[in-house]
Amino acid sequence: MSDGGSQPFRIGLLGFGTVGAAFAELLAARAGHIEKITGLRPEIAGVLTRSRGSFDDVLEGSDLVVEVIGGLEPAREYVLRAMAAGRHVVTANKQLLSHHGEELWAAAREHAVQLRFEASVAGVVPVIRVFQESLAAAHIDRVHGIVNGTTNFILSEMARTGATYEDALAEAQRLGYAEADPTDDVNGKDAAAKMAILARLAFDTPVHLEQVVYEGIEHITADDMEYARELGLGLKLIGTAERVDGGLSVRVHPAFLYGGHPLASVSGPFNAVTVESDAITEITMSGPGAGGPQTASAVLGDVISAMIPPASTPETTERLEIVEDVESAFYLHMEVADRPGVLAQIAQVLGLQGASVKSVVQKGLGENARLVMVVHPILESKLFAAVDLIGRMDFLRAPPRAIRVIDETFE
Ligand SMILES: NC(=O)c1ccc[n+]([C@@H]2O[C@H](COP(=O)([O-])OP(=O)(O)OC[C@H]3O[C@@H](n4cnc5c(N)ncnc54)[C@H](OP(=O)(O)O)[C@@H]3O)[C@@H](O)[C@H]2O)c1
Repeated sequence: MSDGGSQPFRIGLLGFGTVGAAFAELLAARAGHIEKITGLRPEIAGVLTRSRGSFDDVLEGSDLVVEVIGGLEPAREYVLRAMAAGRHVVTANKQLLSHHGEELWAAAREHAVQLRFEASVAGVVPVIRVFQESLAAAHIDRVHGIVNGTTNFILSEMARTGATYEDALAEAQRLGYAEADPTDDVNGKDAAAKMAILARLAFDTPVHLEQVVYEGIEHITADDMEYARELGLGLKLIGTAERVDGGLSVRVHPAFLYGGHPLASVSGPFNAVTVESDAITEITMSGPGAGGPQTASAVLGDVISAMIPPASTPETTERLEIVEDVESAFYLHMEVADRPGVLAQIAQVLGLQGASVKSVVQKGLGENARLVMVVHPILESKLFAAVDLIGRMDFLRAPPRAIRVIDETFE
């Protein structure tokens, strides 16, 4: 505990919800330890919520500002004003950084203050630090991430119990892993914001949320999980950022993984990020992706870092073009009439687009006949053209479903 001799380090806390309250509690518990390692005594100097405090007073009385309000405004205005006033800022706000990152990082450089945001991606998993510091010199080729715990929990439940999407979502809400309104989690937008931030750091080029193509898990069926299991595949909502043809592709979509992929075993509400680079082969970081105490721990880690040496997010040096049409392997699920020649016709349409089939499973008979196949990597536009043609054939009983497969292992 303090002997009263250390200088105080005054923290202005914007937001006192799940993360803000957990942060205040954690700080109270760890203040003595932080004082020992930094020589400064951290304390909450002021709190702002919708019904409490004033921003000007909080700013005036603080050495550093923690922003855990969320959303774009007034968070953006407060963060900019805090930095303009010479305060370091720590934020957990992925929406803010994926929309206004370049403006905010430029302001941090201009005012020579730190803007730290470890908690904005993958909760307590220290991915931001790894990109900014440990891998700062690596030429990164690809980043894959499971960066939304809600969807990973839902997909894990569907795989584990055979539950429908709706039942698994209800279970996630019951356990507190999904919000009452889970829209931005299940439609992929939350993961897209996090991938925009990771891509910016990994590839040193500006990436805005609007440049990230995303697709959610709302249409995944228990059947898909079951059939894919027979092909040795497990389903995840995967964020990808990778170099493609001299440009950059950043996207989020459900994807099947073979068992040997480092992300295949990440289940429940956990997050994980895999980085691939020639020099390092592959590294994977994983851990809890959300939750008040976990996120607060990442925020407090940033506060301690800001209390010690300086760090800044440099201006980008690259201007990579964002590439939207990339090659992927696909799982195709088709409900078909049980009659001769069907497989041959499907194979012909796929063949005309240049798709080649890796494996096929034929399931059920009569009214239940289904074809499930995995197609080798092909330009996505070509695969979707083939799926469109297949969908118009009279032997199809329902629109075909196409889900990407990440066809890599690191053994
Ligand atoms: N929860 C998690 O597990 C988690 C994980 C990773 C990152 N994050 C990020 O952390 C941030 C905070 O999330 P949270 O879950 O703690 O949110 P939350 O529980 O909704 O709390 C938000 C807080 O901000 C305050 N606030 C909202 N609008 C305000 C305004 N206009 N002016 C002043 N105060 C305002 C609220 O005040 P009132 O109390 O008056 O409503 C509340 O205290 C978000 O950026 C979120 O994305 C959260």
